[in-house]
Amino acid sequence: TNVILLGPPGAGKGTQAKRLVQERGMVQLSTGDMLREARSSGSEMGLKVAAVMDAGGLVTDEIVIGLIREKLQQGEGGGYIFDGFPRTLAQADALGELLSQMGETLDAVIAMEVDDAVLVRRITGRYTCGNCGAVYHDETHPTKVPGVCDVCGSTNLVRRADDNEDSLRHRLMEYYKKTSPLVGYYHAKGDLRRVDALASVEDVAAAIAGALDRG
Ligand code: AP5
Ligand code: ZN
Repeated sequence: TNVILLGPPGAGKGTQAKRLVQERGMVQLSTGDMLREARSSGSEMGLKVAAVMDAGGLVTDEIVIGLIREKLQQGEGGGYIFDGFPRTLAQADALGELLSQMGETLDAVIAMEVDDAVLVRRITGRYTCGNCGAVYHDETHPTKVPGVCDVCGSTNLVRRADDNEDSLRHRLMEYYKKTSPLVGYYHAKGDLRRVDALASVEDVAAAIAGALDRG
């Protein structure tokens, strides 16, 4: 099964992708994580994208399609969760081509539906484990022991540079202008499943599982 998690910043794509990895052994491909890795490794590409990311803009199609192509060519194939990709029509077309070249299909596109009002709280309350990538929230999902990751025990808990209100506003504008047309695109192809992402993490996970198992 190959699935796209589609939704605005803070919809819970990363949170749900990590559950699918744990529960189904799928492989998470997050272009946001790949770009953040490129930045922290100090690569030329990483330095080039840093300012755009911090301001909440989209990185060029060429760069993110290149990242995904590389991962797909390295991988064994099958069972991918695309998290934060595709984000433009050009990226969606490129993904369709890459998958068909590999003899793979896209099995579902999960549209994670939320209200903008909750996104600010989700984004400004978020922190992640700098070691294992686990995602937490000050109010809805704090670590059990303050300052210590539940999953790996690391005390390196970090906040993202783009998780502030200004850059979130820009990310949302980019989402509506460039990414939300993908909802119609995949609906027309018959791949779209809508999920209420305002519900609890558990309930959203159950709805996604239902959508995937219905096929
Ligand atoms: P990216 O890393 O993809 O960020 P994003 O799309 O803005 O998404 P987020 O990671 O902010 O949100 P999420 O939906 O994963 O939510 P999460 O699960 O963490 O992209 C970052 C940047 O990289 C972009 O702005 C762009 O510059 C660049 N980029 C990346 N991909 C690109 C591409 N394809 N093309 C061009 N540029 C690209 O949850 C958020 C918070 O809410 C957490 O604290 C969590 O604990 C909490 N939470 C989650 N679910 C629930 C729930 N059901 N109830 C209560 N709280 C919840
Ligand atoms: Zn951790």
